[in-house]
Amino acid sequence: MNFDFTETQLMIKEMAKKFSEDVLAPTAAERDEKEEFPHDAVKQMGELGLMGMMVPEQFNGAGLDTVSYVVAMEEISKMDASAGVIMSVNNSLVCYGLAEFGSDFQKEKYLKELAIGKKLGAFALSEPEAGSDASNQKTTAVRDGDFYLINGTKNFITNGKYADVVLVMATTDKSKGTHGISTFIVDKGIPGFEVAKKENKLGIRSSDTVSLSFTDCRVSVENRIGEEGFGFKFAMKTLDGGRIGIAAQALGIAQASLEAALKYSKERKAFGQFIAEFQGIQFKLADMATRIEAARLLTLKSAALKDSGKPYGHASAMAKLYASKVAVDAALEAIQIHGGYGYVKDYPVERYLRDAKITEIYEGTSEVQRIVIARNLLKD
Ligand code: CAA
Repeated sequence: MNFDFTETQLMIKEMAKKFSEDVLAPTAAERDEKEEFPHDAVKQMGELGLMGMMVPEQFNGAGLDTVSYVVAMEEISKMDASAGVIMSVNNSLVCYGLAEFGSDFQKEKYLKELAIGKKLGAFALSEPEAGSDASNQKTTAVRDGDFYLINGTKNFITNGKYADVVLVMATTDKSKGTHGISTFIVDKGIPGFEVAKKENKLGIRSSDTVSLSFTDCRVSVENRIGEEGFGFKFAMKTLDGGRIGIAAQALGIAQASLEAALKYSKERKAFGQFIAEFQGIQFKLADMATRIEAARLLTLKSAALKDSGKPYGHASAMAKLYASKVAVDAALEAIQIHGGYGYVKDYPVERYLRDAKITEIYEGTSEVQRIVIARNLLKD
């Protein structure tokens, strides 16, 4: 067992850290307040190879491993968890899905531009009545010659407003249950495609989350990913990897919370000494650091399993379940250590708590992760 990063992984970490500190950090709080999407930063992230990190170089990707993706995601999310989710969805749900399961035509036409951030991708699985119960898809895709007509509504779609390309799950044969769901690549702006309600969110406010509606959207058969009926498995397999990205996002928020708490406790005096000198504060810091390290190891393990071609769905569910809880707890403790100052927007820790909460919800709630983990424990 080797716990050392490679030279490339260390280089990626440094590059992401510098970008995050120089470009994202100065405007993160203001963009959060104004719900402003970081268009320029996302463009630069594309140029740096951060939007298609695991895509093979032949399709313009950075050709890196999942461990590199985790270290970069942590650094980006540490300064700006909104940028983290934008990056995560494009990398692990859209680019990975296309690189792994797309046709040559689809990789050529879509992946090459998505991998360099020239296009932005979204993943449209959730519906008003299909969140955790993802198989309850009401969106339909009805075959019409060489096309499908897509009708339905998707909600809580990250990147939805600004995405150029959306991977849409839809029912092609209701009688077949999960085997009757297919995935389609839908170009923004085709007739019948509408961006509907924008969500006013608690956290990750500078990322964009919208509903999308499809009315008789004509999509070519060439844009179906895999065979008809492969859509549910496509979504589940893709989300197995997506959960590694969200675990890494949670790590970034948790680490930011710890660092803010450390800094504050060395600056703030009470009862005649720095609060870092009180054992009560030291124990909180020690617990935060220990839990964050445990979450980091789980996340890196799931990434390493994916990189070595071994099953990783169980590990990625554990990583997301644990890292998201650690992020929420770390942000709460950071607020507690800041006292009243932690509750106001002059300090970043209240944003960390608002951002952390979503990591327990999207890409499968903590309850869904427990279902995945328990089913793996009980199988055979
Ligand atoms: N890999 C491959 N196949 C899988 C799989 C996986 N990880 N998980 C399930 N399957 C297969 C099963 O083997 C089964 O196949 P067979 O019928 O051939 O045996 C089929 O899929 C159906 O599986 P289940 O019976 O387990 O399905 P279920 O209806 O009980 O659902 C669930 C299980 C785990 C709860 C699933 O619905 C789920 O993961 N729900 C959460 C959905 C989710 O994560 N949504 C996130 C939205 S995207 C998002 O949040 C992005 C964003 O914006 C940030």
